Amino acid sequence: MLPPSLVGKTAAITGATGSIGFAIATRFAREGASVVLAGRSVQKLQNTLKQTQDTKPWQWQTTTVQQQQQQQQNHAIVELDTRKLSDWKGLVEKHEIDILVNCAGISQHSLLVRAAEADVDELIDTNLRSAIWGCKVVGKQMISRSRRATDGKGKGKGEGGCCIINVSSLLAQRAVVGSAVYSASKAGLLGLTTALSQEFGHYGVRVNAILPGYIESGMTSDLPDRDEIMAKIPLKRFGEPDEVADAAAFLAKNTYANNCILTLDGGSSAV
Ligand SMILES: NC(=O)c1ccc[n+]([C@@H]2O[C@H](COP(=O)([O-])OP(=O)(O)OC[C@H]3O[C@@H](n4cnc5c(N)ncnc54)[C@H](OP(=O)(O)O)[C@@H]3O)[C@@H](O)[C@H]2O)c1
Repeated sequence: MLPPSLVGKTAAITGATGSIGFAIATRFAREGASVVLAGRSVQKLQNTLKQTQDTKPWQWQTTTVQQQQQQQQNHAIVELDTRKLSDWKGLVEKHEIDILVNCAGISQHSLLVRAAEADVDELIDTNLRSAIWGCKVVGKQMISRSRRATDGKGKGKGEGGCCIINVSSLLAQRAVVGSAVYSASKAGLLGLTTALSQEFGHYGVRVNAILPGYIESGMTSDLPDRDEIMAKIPLKRFGEPDEVADAAAFLAKNTYANNCILTLDGGSSAV
């Protein structure tokens, strides 16, 4: 028996022009999915699309003529500011989404008493409210499709074909001084995930989250205390974006994964 793949699936990924989002897009393309790269900058999206189109799917998945036909991939870009509900509505007008990865995010480091109102608003809007809109709009489309495909109600089928993956952070559970608002936004994603794993799970739409620890990316390259942080990680290194993408691929493919909160931190959560 062949291992599961993402052949025939369409995956929308926000933050696809960033380090982790791009790694997830590339991995999903290798697994046979068509990827919809969502982001604010068309220029950056076009560059990312070119690299995604150059990514060839793993051939071991192609055994039958039917599978070869299904393996036609149509990668696309969508201009989307995750904070705007109207942009999400535009996404589902153009695409039927099987997998949504809410990966767009920003980080801020500030003591709460010094945090400016505008910065708090921007962080909560980008990291939490955006994912709420994404789950609401894309989740509704997934549920409608699931109901059409089943008995008209879709309840209790639990097929697990569609799924949403929220990229949270270890800081949701292991907050540090200066991370109050970021940690609150990422902890909010866990509440969202757990509630929707029940609300959407009844229709066979799975909702999961990844909690990455420190990952090599634009977000962590200029941390002033990089060496100090690394020394405390049991594996003594930051993770790679591809390692987060591997976790996303697992959650996308494993049809029993629902409310699966996957920590990927080199052991940081143990210390
Ligand atoms: N790196 C880490 O160590 C780490 C650890 C734990 C969790 N995470 C989480 O992982 C996710 C990806 O992080 P990363 O390291 O890959 O960061 P990154 O390289 O800075 O990428 C962030 C992405 O989010 C996009 N984005 C930000 N605001 C947006 C908005 N309003 N609408 C649409 N797109 C928006 C950015 O697009 P633009 O180019 O348009 O700004 C960019 O593509 C984030 O949610 C982050 O919190 C990261």
